[in-house]
Amino acid sequence: MTPAPISRRHAITLGALGATAVASGVTGWMASSRGPGSGDWSDAADTGAELTQPTRLDSRDGRLQVQLTAAAGARLIGRETHALGYNGSLPGPTLKVHPGDELAVRLVNQLDQPTNLHTHGLRVSPLGNSDNPFLRVDPGTSLDYSIRIPPDHPTGTFWYHPHHHGVVADQIFGGLAGALLVDPAPGQQPEFAVAADRVLLVTDITLTGDGRVARPSAMERAMGREGQLVLVNGQHQPAIAAAPGALQRWRIINGCVSRVLVVALQGHDLLHIAQDGSYLPRPARTGQLMLAPGNRADVIVHPAAPGRFELITEPFQRGGMGMMGGGTDSSEPVTLATMTVDGPPASAAPLPASVPVEARPAGPVVAQRQIAFQMGMGMGMGGGGMTFTIDGRIFDPTRDDQSTTLGSVEDWTVTNTSTLAHPFHLHVWPFTVLASSDNTPPLGVPQDVVLIPPQGWVRLRIAFTRFAGRSVYHCHILDHEDAGMMATVNVHG
Ligand code: C2O
Ligand code: CU
Ligand code: CU
Repeated sequence: MTPAPISRRHAITLGALGATAVASGVTGWMASSRGPGSGDWSDAADTGAELTQPTRLDSRDGRLQVQLTAAAGARLIGRETHALGYNGSLPGPTLKVHPGDELAVRLVNQLDQPTNLHTHGLRVSPLGNSDNPFLRVDPGTSLDYSIRIPPDHPTGTFWYHPHHHGVVADQIFGGLAGALLVDPAPGQQPEFAVAADRVLLVTDITLTGDGRVARPSAMERAMGREGQLVLVNGQHQPAIAAAPGALQRWRIINGCVSRVLVVALQGHDLLHIAQDGSYLPRPARTGQLMLAPGNRADVIVHPAAPGRFELITEPFQRGGMGMMGGGTDSSEPVTLATMTVDGPPASAAPLPASVPVEARPAGPVVAQRQIAFQMGMGMGMGGGGMTFTIDGRIFDPTRDDQSTTLGSVEDWTVTNTSTLAHPFHLHVWPFTVLASSDNTPPLGVPQDVVLIPPQGWVRLRIAFTRFAGRSVYHCHILDHEDAGMMATVNVHG
């Protein structure tokens, strides 16, 4: 399937910092998007520039030791801004490790609010200074993380981002995110031999005229904010160079806090080889791929003839607020990047017909649970007097919402009683989708984010194996997570 020609949306006009926002005590790097004046970021200085890869930091001798400093003042789309970055850049460096490695991160907090670090999708311990979402790193302090990646960890595409409840959406929208790749052990062949292997970390952000990160309205928080600028590796509509016939692997990461991506490449099919860090048993040719916030899709692109082909995200309706009105607004395609195919034809190495896949959860299903994602009116912490709950409760880090024992295989039916789609995400323990109310064919591999249709449900099989400890499941519309749509699971060892 070939996407229809699209109209470019180059005119992006953003409001300037309103004086009232300063007076009402907005933190330094965020500003109200409402207010007089205008800033025009349409001629973003880097539009159309060659796609660059974030700085890559590789493990050596079984260890990757890095310092990540979270701070405002990242350079973005060719300008100095108040956006956030790790080590001054947005996205942060790509961390590359192998199964069996230790990932040692010193997280330095130079923000004006608490933060922490989450390794989204990694099958690692949630305890201690590992992938523990309950840790807190206060402004002006630092914390040393030690994340041990098991020797049999799948290879693939993961990402990292902050997870301090209440400010997750603000910090990721502000620019804090980076790719995290688990590569085959040194000396082992990559699963797919390609001419280029690229990270495409997609984020969105809204900047005010003076380069501050816009603060969402209560309604935007309730719907889940979508940024006016959609960036790939922090660049605006970059060009991806390609030679005819030379295969490329694109690791597409949806790092947007609310936006669902429906990715399509003009004139080309995408060969879907992996989802959320799990290889598909059989690569699947497709015209478009849906990625909920947090999802990753690895695709092989086979550039055909010379030309320019836009990589777009199609409009996607996440639903509305029912009687309140106010739907999600992505009604036009957005250009993510342009593939420019040029030069003499190359010959592509043949692709494997199948790749080894992670074993599916074995053992009897010992528990069935029903989980309900709910939105309602009330005196909640959410925007606009809305409440965002799971099973009628807002997040309490001290409460165990689900308890199980290490080794249990469970089936969870996650229902969504609202008229808005919510992406369900579980840390540490990936799940396999069994069925859903909208009959989306399950991928059949472990994944970590799945979209629950409006007024629908998804049934999941989860193996609580390998790691004991407490962690969380939540809506990956991070405005909803921050408002309380998160809960805990305690896996007793
Ligand atoms: Cu990507 Cu709990 O997060
Ligand atoms: Cu996660
Ligand atoms: Cu939600």
